[in-house]
Amino acid sequence: MAVLHGRCRFVYTEPRLTCPAMKPNLATRLFAAVLGAAVVVAVAKGVGAHVNLNRDFLGYLNEQSVGRLDLAVPSVTAGYRQQGGWDFLRQRPDLWYRLLRPLPEDAQVPLTERPPAMPTPAELTGASRRFTLLDAERRRIVGFASPAPDAIERAIVVDGLTVGWLVLTPFESVSSGAEKRFADAQARTGWVVGGAAVLLAAAVAFWASRRLLRPVRQVAEATHKLAAGDHGARVPEPGGGDEIGQLARDFNQLARTLQRNEAMRREFMADVSHELRTPLGVLHGELEALEDGVRPLDAQALQSLKGEVTTLHKLVDDLYELSLADVGALSYRKTDLDLREILDDTAGSFGERLRSSGLVLELDLPPEPLPAFGDARRLRQLFANLFENSCRYTDPGGALRLQARRDGRQMLIDLHDSAPGVRDEHLPRLFDRFFRADGSRSRRSGGAGLGLSICQRIVEAHEGRIQAGPSPLGGLWLRVELPARG
Ligand SMILES: Nc1ncnc2c1ncn2[C@@H]1O[C@H](COP(=O)(O)OP(=O)(O)OP(=O)(O)O)[C@@H](O)[C@H]1O
Ligand SMILES: [Mg+2]
Repeated sequence: MAVLHGRCRFVYTEPRLTCPAMKPNLATRLFAAVLGAAVVVAVAKGVGAHVNLNRDFLGYLNEQSVGRLDLAVPSVTAGYRQQGGWDFLRQRPDLWYRLLRPLPEDAQVPLTERPPAMPTPAELTGASRRFTLLDAERRRIVGFASPAPDAIERAIVVDGLTVGWLVLTPFESVSSGAEKRFADAQARTGWVVGGAAVLLAAAVAFWASRRLLRPVRQVAEATHKLAAGDHGARVPEPGGGDEIGQLARDFNQLARTLQRNEAMRREFMADVSHELRTPLGVLHGELEALEDGVRPLDAQALQSLKGEVTTLHKLVDDLYELSLADVGALSYRKTDLDLREILDDTAGSFGERLRSSGLVLELDLPPEPLPAFGDARRLRQLFANLFENSCRYTDPGGALRLQARRDGRQMLIDLHDSAPGVRDEHLPRLFDRFFRADGSRSRRSGGAGLGLSICQRIVEAHEGRIQAGPSPLGGLWLRVELPARG
C-alpha cells in the first residue's frame, strides 16, 4: 500500500511472520537448547563416573589390599616360626593361602589344620592373589608370579632378623572378576540413568517450549494482525505478575490505545469535513441562486456571502491553530504582564456585544495589579473566547460575573453566567474538539466546538488549568488558574 504525503512517498509493506531463509522457530530452539544441555550433563556425568571408577575405585581396592597385607604379616611370621623356615611352602604351595589367614584367633592351630583365608571384603577384591613371598635374598618363594617394581613391601622379622618379604603388587586397572563386574554394572547403571534423564529432559523441554511460548506466540500473531490494521486484536491475559503476563497486558493496552486513537482520528476527520461542508454548501447554494437570478446581487447578498466566508476562515484558522498546538509549534511570546489589565480590556471590548445581547456584566477585579508571566495576545484570545461563549450561550436578560484574585502562588479567574447551563454529563467533554453541548442550538449560533479546546491549549502552555462546572447564577462556571509572578 502506498501513501502519498506531500512530496514524499512512503511505501508500507505488509510485515511477514516468516523470513525468506527459514530459521527454526523459538519453540524448536528452546527445545534443542534444553535437550542439548541435558545430553551434555548426562555425558559429562558418565565420563566423570568412569574416571572416578578407574581412579577412586582402584585407590579403594589398593587401600583394602594394604590393610590385608598388614593383617597377613603376623600370621606369615608365625608360620615361619612354627615351621622353622620357608621350605614347607616350597614343598606345599597350597598352604600359602592358609598361611595368609589373619591371626590371632587360631595362631596356635597347626598351619595344615587352618581353613583357607576367609572371604573378607579385601579377600573379595582378590588382594591375597597379588601377594608374593620373597626370602631374605629377595627370591620368590610363592604367590603372585611377577611382583611389580613399585610393589608395597613388609619385612618378615623373626628374632630381629629379616627372614623374608611379603610383597603386594597394586591393582593397575579394574580388569578381572568381581571388580570388572562391579565396574560394568556401574557403567550400565550410569548409561540407563543418563538415558532416562535425557528422555525426561526431552519431555520437559517439549512441554516447556510449548507451554511457555504459547502466550508469546499469541502476542506475535496478535501483533501481526494489529500491524495489518485489525485494532480489535487482543490476547488472553494470563494471571500472575510474570513477564509474559505483563507482555500480554501491555500488548492489550497498546491495542486499546491504538483503537481509541484511530477512532478519534476518524471522528476528527468526519467532524472537519462536516464542518467544512456546511458553510461551503451554503456558499454554493447562494452563489447558484445569484447566478440563476433567483436572488439579486445586492449588498445584503454580499453580506451573507461574506458571513459564510468568515465562518470558513475562522474554522480553518482554529484548526490550524490546534494542529500547531498539537505538534508543539504554537509560538508564545511571554512577558511580564498584568492580568487585571487584560481582563479589564477584554470585558471593555465586549461592552457593546453584551448590551446587544441584553446581558449585564458584573466585574469583580482587585484594585492592585495581578502580575503574571505570559503571552498577552494569547491570553486576550483566551478570555475573548470565554466571553464570546457567554454572550452566545446565555439567554437575553441574563448576567455575567467576572472575578479575579490572587490565591498564594495562583491567580484564580472565574467567569459565571446565567442560564442555560451545560448538563453535568457533558461537562467533562466540554474541552473536546468539535464538542457542542447542544448541537442544534449551537450550530444555529455558528460555533464549531473548537473554542474551548483552543482555550485549554493556551492555559496549558502557561502551566495553568481550566475547569468547568455549574454556576450559582444558573449557567456555566469556568475557572482559569494561572501561576502568579513574584
Ligand atoms: N457559557 C456557556 N454557557 C453554556 N454553554 C456553553 C458555554 N460555553 C460553551 N458552551 C457549550 O460548550 C460547547 C463548546 O464550546 P466551544 O467554545 O468549544 O465551541 P463553540 O462555541 O460551539 O464553537 P467555536 O468556539 O469553535 O466557535 C458550545 O457549543 C456550547 O454548547
Ligand atoms: Mg466558543
